[in-house]
Amino acid sequence: MTMIVTGGAGFIGSNFIFYQLKTHPEDRIVCVDKLTYAGNLSTLAPIMEHPKFRFVRLDICDREGVYALFEEEKPDIVVNFAAESHVDRSIEDPSVFLQTNVIGTSVLMDACRKYGIVRYHQVSTDEVYGDLPLDRPDLFFTETTPIHTSSPYSSSKAGADLLVQSYCRTFGLPATISRCSNNYGPYHFPEKLIPLMIINCLHDKPLPVYGEGLNVRDWLYVEDHCKAIDLVIRKGRVGEVYNIGGHNEMRNIDIVKLIVHTLGKSEDLITYVTDRKGHDLRYAIDPTKIHDELGWLPETKFADGIQKTIQWYLEHRDWWEPIISGAYMGYYERMYGNR
Ligand code: NAD
Ligand code: DAU
Repeated sequence: MTMIVTGGAGFIGSNFIFYQLKTHPEDRIVCVDKLTYAGNLSTLAPIMEHPKFRFVRLDICDREGVYALFEEEKPDIVVNFAAESHVDRSIEDPSVFLQTNVIGTSVLMDACRKYGIVRYHQVSTDEVYGDLPLDRPDLFFTETTPIHTSSPYSSSKAGADLLVQSYCRTFGLPATISRCSNNYGPYHFPEKLIPLMIINCLHDKPLPVYGEGLNVRDWLYVEDHCKAIDLVIRKGRVGEVYNIGGHNEMRNIDIVKLIVHTLGKSEDLITYVTDRKGHDLRYAIDPTKIHDELGWLPETKFADGIQKTIQWYLEHRDWWEPIISGAYMGYYERMYGNR
């Protein structure tokens, strides 16, 4: 079987490819990635010569290029991770989010229709459900929670989800969608909360906590997400949405303090900065459906996963040090300079 994995040079896509090569050695993986600022070929360096792996630098919005690749590879499965993924950047400039997240998704699905596939899987997010109030811990996102987005990022992901559902119903595309909560783990780009706080701590730089740090996210170790997607593409029902999350809600400030203490730094580094515009208060997934139908349960406890993650950043300076120079510094200055 041949599987096209888009966005495989990014955080979750690369972890997913490693997981696939390990657990399904019979399958061939073709990674399609444009290598935006968030894509990093050094992540894939150890598997570049793997006989079951091919890397293709390609924009998923490039219809001609995508069709040519499908013609050549005749994939059985397409898993679409490729996206602009950072909420703050979508607030700065929504346009590329619409282009990649919506148009790119439609190009991939058109290619699937033209060449025929067994399964198209859309990697989506819990952010399409909007947010939950902080004072209602009894509320969770289920697959039937209405779509109600807050940021250009989440709106573009919701737009893509609706398109997938329309292709499924109108054209009979055999598609599935998964909506996951916040991931953490190795190869997480240092613009996101956990890697940013680890790296700033290591440099004794201020730790910019938005607002009062009381917003809640539901954290899942990235390999648990990869296992869930693997189950959905192989055993999930066509046309269905599956929520993925591990009932692991944490306030941002508690995560930041945990990182500070683990690295033996002072809480004085914590700096409260202007809140994110439209900042979602709380995400919390109800994963009952994927548990009941596919037997999925998260395996990594947060206490272990966060230690493994911090250790990974301590041991892989060669991965992140080149990232946090050049364009990243320009971004950092724009985002945090006057906050
Ligand atoms: P990421 O930003 O780390 O990686 C995105 C990858 O997509 C990069 O390698 C980038 O080069 C590539 N890419 C971007 N635009 C492209 C284009 N036009 N054509 C081809 N490749 C392109 O993102 P991530 O955190 O790994 O997220 C992957 C997917 O999972 C996204 O769809 C995101 O919405 C979803 N998701 C992420 C999380 C999370 O916590 N990170 C949670 C739920 C869902
Ligand atoms: O819920 C899934 C989503 O999780 C994915 O769809 C997104 O692609 C992914 O980026 C993530 O979105 P968040 O906005 O939740 O993640 P982020 O790491 O940007 O922020 C997590 C929380 O931390 C959020 O409440 C904002 C806060 N934050 C973030 C940064 C970068 C800070 O307080 N300071 C920061 O510097």
